[in-house]
Amino acid sequence: MYQFPKGFLWGAATSAPQSEGAALKDGKSPTTWDKWFEMEPELFYDQVGPENTSNTYELYKEDVANMKAMNLNSFRTSIAWSRLLPDGKNLNPKAVAFYRDYFQELVDNGVEPIINLFHFDMPWWLMEKGGWEARESVDHFAYYASVAFEQFGDIVKKWATFNEPLVHIECGYYGDAHWPKVHDFKRAIQVGYHTLLAHAKAVAAFRESKYNDGQISIILNLSPVYPRSQEPADLEAAKWADHIYIRSFLDCAVKGDFADEFVALLKEADLAPVTEAGDREIFLNNTVDFVGCNYYQPMRVQAPEVAKRPISDPHDLFAPYDWPEKRINPHRGWEIYPRGIYDIAMRLKESYDNIPWYISENGMGVSEEERFENLDGIIEDDYRIEFIEDHLAELHRAIEAGSPCFGYHLWTFADCWSWLNAYKNRYGYYRVDIKDGFKRTPKQSSFWMADVIAKNGFSR
Ligand code: BG6
Repeated sequence: MYQFPKGFLWGAATSAPQSEGAALKDGKSPTTWDKWFEMEPELFYDQVGPENTSNTYELYKEDVANMKAMNLNSFRTSIAWSRLLPDGKNLNPKAVAFYRDYFQELVDNGVEPIINLFHFDMPWWLMEKGGWEARESVDHFAYYASVAFEQFGDIVKKWATFNEPLVHIECGYYGDAHWPKVHDFKRAIQVGYHTLLAHAKAVAAFRESKYNDGQISIILNLSPVYPRSQEPADLEAAKWADHIYIRSFLDCAVKGDFADEFVALLKEADLAPVTEAGDREIFLNNTVDFVGCNYYQPMRVQAPEVAKRPISDPHDLFAPYDWPEKRINPHRGWEIYPRGIYDIAMRLKESYDNIPWYISENGMGVSEEERFENLDGIIEDDYRIEFIEDHLAELHRAIEAGSPCFGYHLWTFADCWSWLNAYKNRYGYYRVDIKDGFKRTPKQSSFWMADVIAKNGFSR
């Protein structure tokens, strides 16, 4: 029997831009996603854009009732910055009413809300001023954060500032999957620096807010790095991947500082960001109370084929190679490696001073999932149950070994829209039929999970 600690948080996660719909309704101003879809709809899978996400804006009560039926005791979503403050300054009363109702509904049904402030949804008005490249974004974000704490802090006691900020940077500043799709690692570093500063200033705003009896965190994609071999060149490559993808954000958010080695390398490569006097104190004085860890798959790293400084383009570190134990999710192409969840759990315990943390996302994406519908119209997602069991078993092992993990959230509760992939890959405990009024139907995994939660564990 895999028995989990008393009070363990069982839940699921989504985000405002991926689930609310109502993208331009009731005063919300556009984000980069709304504008990008207007400009290049053909880039989005099946040309489904952000206005068509799962309509939680109207259906949240139904979702919460379903969460209750599934025994979930926690749930993460985010606030849409451009709904709450459409022009960055003035409060939108309809947004306040919506979020207060939504969050209260969760609490009233025994589902603890964990509310995040930024999930890749940069307001367009701010993007036009340079987005995260412009230092002024830092203070705009800190102001938005202070408004959110003020408006909802009586209901919400667990907060996060950013979801996977590195993904936003990687895909938008040295990749093509997020706006503004530029390729410039130096600019990416500056964006990362401003994002971290915005995070730290939001933490400061939280500490100063009148409802500072809660806790605040950051949600990071923490994929453990495994080198191809123990050869020095591969180990060196793994070290830099680890600095960039794990330590840069984690060290700063938890310890309030960056690794000296990382700072030295950035300087040497002329990649150091522009900083201001006083920034260091802001980082040092505003560390998080807990960490959210999104874990999907590990990072397999090897030395770049051509000898060049890996840090000038981190993608050079990920040339594919044959990993003997590689198990692939055939429906999404991502590696399945449950052991990774144990390794990151132990790393958080050992290198981050026992910081409390939880799995804020883990999950299995499946394309064309309607193939698995049975005669009763239920999707028989045994593959997802197996995936979750395998990961929970490793997580349980880490908890037994002392890692202070307090929860497990699946991505996602009800199938949601996913950026350029739109509704291609389904992840939910609930199916959402986008052609039938966003109708929700439980999948097999939701019944299985309801039982796991009731027993606070499972046996296999
Ligand atoms: C996570 C993100 O990393 O991956 C989510 O936090 C995203 O926002 C999820 O939806 C799934 O991605 P995809 O590309 O498989 O739909």
